[in-house]
This record gives sequence, structure tokens and C-alpha cells, in this order.
Amino acid sequence: MLTDLHIDEEGEHPLGIDTRSNFIKVLHTSVGSGPDLIVLAGDLCNRVGDEQIYSWVKTQMDATGIPYHCIAGNHDDPRLMCDIFYPAKNTSCDELYYAHHEPFSPLIFLDSSEGSMTETQYQWLSHEISSGGICVTIFMHHPPILAGCKHVEPTYAFTQTERFQLLCGAFPDKSIAIFCGHYHLERTVQMKNQHVYITPSTFIQIHPDFEEFRPQNDLIGYREILINEDKMITNVIYVT
Ligand SMILES: [Fe+2]
Repeated sequence: MLTDLHIDEEGEHPLGIDTRSNFIKVLHTSVGSGPDLIVLAGDLCNRVGDEQIYSWVKTQMDATGIPYHCIAGNHDDPRLMCDIFYPAKNTSCDELYYAHHEPFSPLIFLDSSEGSMTETQYQWLSHEISSGGICVTIFMHHPPILAGCKHVEPTYAFTQTERFQLLCGAFPDKSIAIFCGHYHLERTVQMKNQHVYITPSTFIQIHPDFEEFRPQNDLIGYREILINEDKMITNVIYVT
């Protein structure tokens, strides 16, 4: 899983960072480990959803020859992403959410790009969790619980943490692994039956202990996730 690419228009280097080069470097490292699937977990764009940026990302991903999925972050446009990455869908989607039923665990991809989810999406999510096995795997851009990140959380946190907890609490016998980005750091948070794995960005990391914006430009990485019949193992790999 790669997240928070923050790719800008051609020639633009936000905060002096070549985000396209960073992304390609991390992508090629991750491809080297031979994944079955790659997930891009949102904020593909740096400012707002952009057709040319999505097309560029699609070209890079298609060139890997590895299946991949994309979800939308707060800097993305789910409708544009749907058109470009999922053209087989007949209608444009206002929210880009979907599921894949793998042998050991359903993989559920959510759209939290508004910092919230519609009740329709919650109803769908509830059905997906209830119809799957004991282990549930969710990918969403926003961490659905607070993680102690002083700069990001006061302004940019998911706004429906209680609603999300209510839903997960309805399935106490299920183990729910939730893979997120958004906070630009590595952190794991456990609450009841949920394990939330926050994953570093391919752009910059943000220091969690300061209220002001303190970027850390020297660390980029991705997350490896191994899922088999009876366990899940995950690690963050930093790329130099
Ligand atoms: Fe981001």
C-alpha cells in the first residue's frame, strides 16, 4: 500500500519535493517485493483532483503489470477517479467504494474523501462486514479514530469517529484491520476489535507532536501487508 502521493501539475514541486520521482522510487521498491496487489490509499493529487495527474499515475501503475486499486483522499475527486481508473462502471460514482472477496478476508475499499461517509456507504459497509469472515480488511484514507497527531487532527480528522465506532462495535466477534494514510506518519492504534494501521506518505511525513506544521522531508515509504488463512502481518518499509 502506497499513500499520500500528493502529485502536482507537471513541473510543480510542492515544498521543494519532486513528488513524481518520490512516488516512482517507492513504487519500484514495492514492486520488487512481488506483491499480488497494490493499493493507492488516497491523496494521489496535491491540491484537487486532476485528470492529467490521474492519467499519469495510471500510466505508471499499468506499467507495473500488477493489479492495483485506488481510493480517494481529501485532495481527490472520486468521480474523476472513477472515470479514469474504473471506466467499466457504467455511471459516474459520487462515492468510490467497493469490495473484493478474497479467499481469507474480504477487502473493503471506502471513500472518506469528504472527511465523512454517507449513510448509504455505512449501510453497505455493515452488509459487507456481516457477510464476510472473521477477519475483515478495510482500506480508507482517513483514520477513523484519533491517533494523537497534533497538527493534523484538530482541522483534518475524520468527522464521524463515533458513527464508525458504532458500526464496528456491532461486530465484536470480527477482527477488523483498517489501513489508512492521511496523517503522513507511521502509527498503529488499537481500539476494541479494530487495529488501525496508519501509513507514511511518499511525499513528506508530518511531525505528530507539534501543533504547527513540521514536515519531515527525509522519510518516504510504503506498507507491506501479508494476509493468509490465519494471520495478517504488516510492516512499513522506508525507502532511501
Ligand atoms: Fe495527504
